Amino acid sequence: MTDRPPGLDDASSEPGGSASGRAWWHHAVGYAVYLRSFADADGDGIGDLAGVIERLDHLSALGVDLLWLTPFHPSPLADNGYDITDYYGVDPTLGDLETVRRLLDAAHRRSIRVVMDLVPNHTSNQHPWFRAALADPAGPERGYYLWRDPAPDGGPPNNWVSCFGGPAWTLDPGSGQYYLHLFLPEQPDLDWRNPAVADEFDAIIRFWLELGVDGFRIDVAQGLVKDAALRSNPQLAPWDPGQRREQQWAAFEHRYDIAQPETLDVFGRWRRLCDAYGAVLIGETYVLEADRYAAMLRGDGLDLGFWFGTMHAGWDAAALRHALAAPLQHVDDHRVIAWAASSLDEVRVATRLGGGEEGRRRALALATLLFCLPGVPFLYQGEELGLLEGIVAPESRTDPVGADVQQSRDGCRTPMPWAPGPNFGFSTAARTWLPDGGRRAEDTVAAQLGRDGSWLERYRALVALRRATPALRQGPFAWADLGHDALGAFHRGPWTVAANLGTEPVVAPVAGTVAFDSLGLAEVGAQVESITLAPAQAVVVATARASAVEGGPTTPDADRSAA
Ligand code: GLC
Repeated sequence: MTDRPPGLDDASSEPGGSASGRAWWHHAVGYAVYLRSFADADGDGIGDLAGVIERLDHLSALGVDLLWLTPFHPSPLADNGYDITDYYGVDPTLGDLETVRRLLDAAHRRSIRVVMDLVPNHTSNQHPWFRAALADPAGPERGYYLWRDPAPDGGPPNNWVSCFGGPAWTLDPGSGQYYLHLFLPEQPDLDWRNPAVADEFDAIIRFWLELGVDGFRIDVAQGLVKDAALRSNPQLAPWDPGQRREQQWAAFEHRYDIAQPETLDVFGRWRRLCDAYGAVLIGETYVLEADRYAAMLRGDGLDLGFWFGTMHAGWDAAALRHALAAPLQHVDDHRVIAWAASSLDEVRVATRLGGGEEGRRRALALATLLFCLPGVPFLYQGEELGLLEGIVAPESRTDPVGADVQQSRDGCRTPMPWAPGPNFGFSTAARTWLPDGGRRAEDTVAAQLGRDGSWLERYRALVALRRATPALRQGPFAWADLGHDALGAFHRGPWTVAANLGTEPVVAPVAGTVAFDSLGLAEVGAQVESITLAPAQAVVVATARASAVEGGPTTPDADRSAA
């Protein structure tokens, strides 16, 4: 393991921390780095691990202390790195093992923990295991994957569809059998009912824990174990492979392909490995039914699971309130919810909620709620700058998903804009792997850092308030009915958080001291009896009791020691 500074020691050395309530991640603010687009240190036009090291100060300044990196392993890039050929290796365009060590050291020195992406649902079809499985149907690797004979009509063995559209089965003409892939045909699914697969991943996990990583974000956590009999899913609507991918997926009830209870055994096995290292297990847990999402988080396996309902609600107060309430209603221990409004796979939140300045305002209003709800909030790179979806011309797209712009994920993956100038400071290359997305000088970190009222400064203030205020992380939670349908509001102990999720001003009967105002309309420290909230204005208010208990919003550092 790399040496950990004392700041990291106390929490990370506590095995089984999730049960004790003192696990470090409960207090964390997460940040997702899309590695290939964050910072390019070697000038080849592709972001890399050394680039992340160079930009760690940005994350420190933002107040982030949990960094999730997208995969850095060798990959033929059929799905931009989520198709892995060597789980122990580092893709040379992104760095090497020594760079990973340096990154861990540099992050730990800044009290930032580093979580790596673990992709256990599928490998690349170029992985030696799959090559062996194809070459020798009688060999041991064949059973690492899911093979079935064709249905009587010669078609796929069941009706499952790929998340990327089309059938989830591809025929191997050599053996005459189909293999399963919940994503691309180049991403064959592993058979998690085969103990040899579990053993392989135990070794992989141990390797990276020994190197010093602080945990894993588990890709497609909901998909690992499939129904033992691979039964067909109930069909809900007509399906045809020409439909948009979301529509194809929605044509079935996903009863047998995802969220199977046996998946919890896999998580439990990993939990035992991670406990000795104080490492966190964060599931992608992409299940939109809140009860099934909650089921993935039961048991002693995952410490956190991402909730995606927030990414499927538009600017509609009822829909947003429902998207926030659903996981809280179903999950037993609220601290396991990982909140996010943007990700490497979805249209950026500011665009999704309307675009332009209005979309940016709405995104921060939503973030204000997410940062104060029970659970752990995550930002996706550039969200703190108010970035809109990047513009990527058809000829520059790289995402295998979807030919049309609405399906392509390239727009949320364009390079991070650091400073005005060539490639907005992302790279010195003449050409970057994705174009800059049409950023403006004012979108950059350099333009926003230290500028009063910039998006970056507002997000920083929000992060700082959460970090400085134990009650906003741990205080008792209750929804607040402030008498108007457009408001989303709740209490955390003596604090009240309220956002106008509508399109008209609303008077919110919130009395106390303003600690945060997403639009900067009310002065921090101002005493209010009530607030007229503009559309997309969100506030955090300390009631009289909060001021007395926590030292009030004007002295946020005073209670840090209690955190
Ligand atoms: C996850 C990743 C996504 C990838 C997919 C298949 O959903 O976030 O980018 O395409 O898994 O690995």
